Parts: sequence; C-alpha cells; structure tokens
Amino acid sequence: MSDETDAEPKEISLYEAVGGDPFFGELVHRFYLGVESDPVLGPMYPADDMDGAKERLMLFLIQFWGGPTTYSDNRGHPRLRMRHAPFPVDRAARDAWLHHMRAAVDSMLGRVDGGQPVIDALMGYFERSAEFMRNVDEPTADSEGPAGL
Ligand code: HEM
Repeated sequence: MSDETDAEPKEISLYEAVGGDPFFGELVHRFYLGVESDPVLGPMYPADDMDGAKERLMLFLIQFWGGPTTYSDNRGHPRLRMRHAPFPVDRAARDAWLHHMRAAVDSMLGRVDGGQPVIDALMGYFERSAEFMRNVDEPTADSEGPAGL
C-alpha cells in the first residue's frame, strides 16, 4: 500500500535547488573576474585558455553537486590534488582563491532560491577543498620558535 502520505520525502540535489547550470556558469564567471586580476593567482592560470579553465571548473562543480557528469565524461576521474600538483598552492594562494570564491558565492545570494543555507554549504565545501589542495610545505608559527633560537 502506498500513497502520497507515506512516500519518502524526495531529496533534491544542491544542483537542482539552485536551478541547475546557469547558477554555476554565473558563479564561475564572477569568480574568474577576481582571479584574472589577482597578483598571486592570475599568472598561474592559462591566459590563452581562460574559457577552457572556466568550463572545467564549472563542469566539475555541476557534477560534484549532483548535476550531469559531463566533467568526467570529458576528463575522467577529477583527481584534483594531482591536477593541482603543477601549481604551487601555498597558504597565500589558498587564501587568495578562497577570497575570490567567497566574493562570488556571496554575490549570488539574491539569485538563489535556497538562500543562506545553500551559500553556507558551498562555502564550507570550498574551504575544506581549498585546504586539501595545499601542496607547499610551510613552517607553522609553532615550528619557527622564538626569535633568535
Ligand atoms: C586552493 C587554491 C587553488 C588554486 C591556486 C587553484 C589553481 C588552479 C589552476 C591554476 C588550475 C588550472 C586551470 C585550468 O587550466 O583548468 C586549476 C584547475 C582546476 N581547479 Fe583549482 N585551484 C585551487 C583550488 C581549487 C578548489 C578548492 C577546487 C574545487 C573545489 C578546484 C577545482 C579545479 C578544477 C576542477 C580544475 C580543472 C581540472 C582539470 O580538469 O584539469 N581548484 N586550479
């Protein structure tokens, strides 16, 4: 026996909640406006293939948040840490990347049905994954020790 009342609530993906592809296209567009003029990040990105870079990030995010798997259909398993190995991602690069992503995500608040919870889910994810992408050993404040010792 089954009717509307005992149906499981349908989980919708974040991809669906934000309205699909156009949200991610606009988010990535806004993010790259910041990246291109950034003194740390700008030189890392391929000046002659910024459209390609935008598309790769957009398709990855669409796939990650539950949309079509076009990213992996084209590029295989994401292996993002490996793909970032050619770029020195130190704390400064991580912070610059997050700064531009936070500005882009926050600027989308008025355009997204899910509102603040969606914004918070996106930023929590970006903060964790940006930290995961760090690949330069840097001394911590602790390991530096007191001045002169
Ligand atoms: C932490 C600082 C980060 C830096 C400095 C950085 C830098 C870069 C650079 C220079 C590229 C090459 C652009 C291209 O030609 O595609 C790239 C690619 C990419 N990045 Fe990042 N990135 C960072 C964090 C992240 C994070 C947190 C994510 C995901 C949430 C991400 C997702 C990607 C994706 C999907 C690609 C394209 C991979 C491919 O298919 O080749 N990046 N990144």
